[in-house]
Amino acid sequence: MGRRIVVTRRIPEPALDLLAGGGEMWLSPHDRPLSVEELHEAVAGADAVVTLLHDRVDDVLLDAAGPQLKVVANVAVGYDNVDVPALTARGVRFTNTPGVLTEATADIAFALILMTTRRLAEGERLIRAGTPWNWSMFFMLGSGIQAKTLGIVGLGQIGQATARRARAFGMDVIYSGRRRADEAVERDLAARHVSLDELLTTADVVSLHCPLSADTRHLIDAARLGQMKPTAHLVNTTRGPVVDEAALADALRDGVIAGAGLDVFEREPLVHEGLLGLDNVVLIPHLGSATIETRTAMGVLAARNAVAVLDGHEPPTPVN
Ligand code: DGY
Repeated sequence: MGRRIVVTRRIPEPALDLLAGGGEMWLSPHDRPLSVEELHEAVAGADAVVTLLHDRVDDVLLDAAGPQLKVVANVAVGYDNVDVPALTARGVRFTNTPGVLTEATADIAFALILMTTRRLAEGERLIRAGTPWNWSMFFMLGSGIQAKTLGIVGLGQIGQATARRARAFGMDVIYSGRRRADEAVERDLAARHVSLDELLTTADVVSLHCPLSADTRHLIDAARLGQMKPTAHLVNTTRGPVVDEAALADALRDGVIAGAGLDVFEREPLVHEGLLGLDNVVLIPHLGSATIETRTAMGVLAARNAVAVLDGHEPPTPVN
């Protein structure tokens, strides 16, 4: 067919099969992110590039690819790695994978809510360390979440799915965000739109679901952590840089807030040293979408997006 499709890192087999049927596929042989030089070399002459969240897609990459490039298909819903206006300016389509990872990511957000409020990782560490323990009325008490308030920052699909779980656990839901959700969504979730200030000062658990952008980088900094209740917990399953990790480590150490659960980090795979020694933070390695079913669905959707554009059709989930 003569169409060159570059896949920057291995993705599930059904997705590779679809791509291989759509042109001449080049798949990175490395089980790691490509270096910038490797990435630029790989995309030369590509008609389609299938990217992952660690690939930087910018003007330099577009120059390296060449004018025949038609589509970049990101295998992720978040796309802070991509300069979308640069693609649009050159007429290159860009797609992401919304929807298919909503439930898996909300599961992880809710798991982190339970882990941090009920001190589950700390308890597990205690047993594995062989620390003597005994049941007592006052041993390792956490805080219950029933009738408490969950504050959702960014009520998109994943925020809504997390809110649904919270309602099932008997929590009240408030949310903040530039855009107010539809009335029907607010009604279904019994969710009240509030300012970020009100959310931070009243929520018992704050769960972050806004995309990373220039506006949301370090949205949660020392000042905003200081607005939260000393009994409150923070959960982040969106992108690490939404939180100032150094400020969070200080806040957790000094008791400014009670606890946190993090699936994402500012400089992944590095984690701020100040967090590593703290018992009141749960740290998991970006597992939000990490189920076999979800990763397969993400790969297949990205492949369908790429092939659709190459075939001259509208892709299922375009961004531009
Ligand atoms: C996404 O899709 O943006 C996720 O972070 C990948 O797990």
